[in-house]
Amino acid sequence: MPKTTLSDLPDLTGKRVLIRVDFNVPYDKKTGAVKNDRRIRAALPTVNALLKAGASVIAMSHLGRPEKATPDERAHLTMDKVAARFGELLGKPVTKAAGEVVGPAVTAAVAAMKPGDVVLLENLRFDPREQQNDAGFAAAIAALGDAYVNDAFGTCHNDRDASMVAVPAALKAAGKPRAVGLLVAKELEIIEGLMGSPKTPVLAVMGGAKVSDKLAFINVLLSKVDHLLIGGKMAYTFLKAQGVEVGSTRVSAEELTAVAPLLQHVGTKVTLPVDYLAAKSDDLTATKVFEGAIDAGYEGVDIGPKTLALFAERIAKAGTVLWNGPVGWFEQPAFSHGTRGVAAAMAASTAVTVVGGGETAEAVEQFGHDAAMTHVSTGGGAFLAYVEGKPFQSLAMIDDQ
Ligand code: 3PG
Repeated sequence: MPKTTLSDLPDLTGKRVLIRVDFNVPYDKKTGAVKNDRRIRAALPTVNALLKAGASVIAMSHLGRPEKATPDERAHLTMDKVAARFGELLGKPVTKAAGEVVGPAVTAAVAAMKPGDVVLLENLRFDPREQQNDAGFAAAIAALGDAYVNDAFGTCHNDRDASMVAVPAALKAAGKPRAVGLLVAKELEIIEGLMGSPKTPVLAVMGGAKVSDKLAFINVLLSKVDHLLIGGKMAYTFLKAQGVEVGSTRVSAEELTAVAPLLQHVGTKVTLPVDYLAAKSDDLTATKVFEGAIDAGYEGVDIGPKTLALFAERIAKAGTVLWNGPVGWFEQPAFSHGTRGVAAAMAASTAVTVVGGGETAEAVEQFGHDAAMTHVSTGGGAFLAYVEGKPFQSLAMIDDQ
């Protein structure tokens, strides 16, 4: 059953709309400065649509993991800098609700709001009740708004977050409407299209470090795609499991166990790199390209030039390309050729190109190819979970159309 979207909501003139956004953005650990505002920009169409409809907007998000932070680290997890950036991008001031997440000061600030005003609540995870899906905490938040919008795709898989589940439940109990925002609607449409009837041939490119974290995702991909290209650190796990020497590249026993059931697909559905760039562990400037075994003292840091050419050729022939996980240590310019090349090949192709969020999205953006992709997801874990077909409690809380 399709979910209620913004256009299905009743007249919002003079109403206060609670919007759960995912402003869990990369930030500078020393200063708290927003390092990448992609997730903030992604929420602007919904926020602007609500303001245009005559509403005032109460936005809320978590930032980082304050429950695990030291007091110094926690000081950088307030929403102050996010609110400032949000205001700059929106072109109007955003009031950061002071101190507490909910309480008398916040209630007063919200009561003073006029149509067109925007308030951003404090980091939801500053209150431990957020991650306990606490009904009392949710009721206090729900009381602030006349309607609820979930535009936090990156957090949709979090079933224990009050702002995702208990808050919309409390609005329902109060007879108030709940909708998905434009970003969530778009993310769902793209992923459902990808998993439903994608343009063939369907190619997936995977990288990143751990197979164990992505086993369910890889298995779903294998049932959907015509071909899966593997790069990144996980490629060395495949190689080692096949008995190929990987030099000083660290591969854990747990990863070797995780990869074992996938080895049967290598050479048919799964293609591994044919060459790799490796660097000396004690001198990263000393690099060498290997085909087959990697010498002792060297560790794999990127796919090699032959592999990139092979991957680019496959990408050029695909109808759909789904990419998740950098194929090398792209943060180091000397080891970024593979990831940069995959991004460029996807940007140049006529295929439907979808990039799973997190690091891959950052890489695509860093190399200036984000605008050329069909879609760059704002979800990391949420993207993987939705592709895997996991039911999202947060979406079940949204009214059906
Ligand atoms: C993400 O970045 O994946 C989401 O914002 C969820 O954050 P979390 O992993 O801390 O729950």
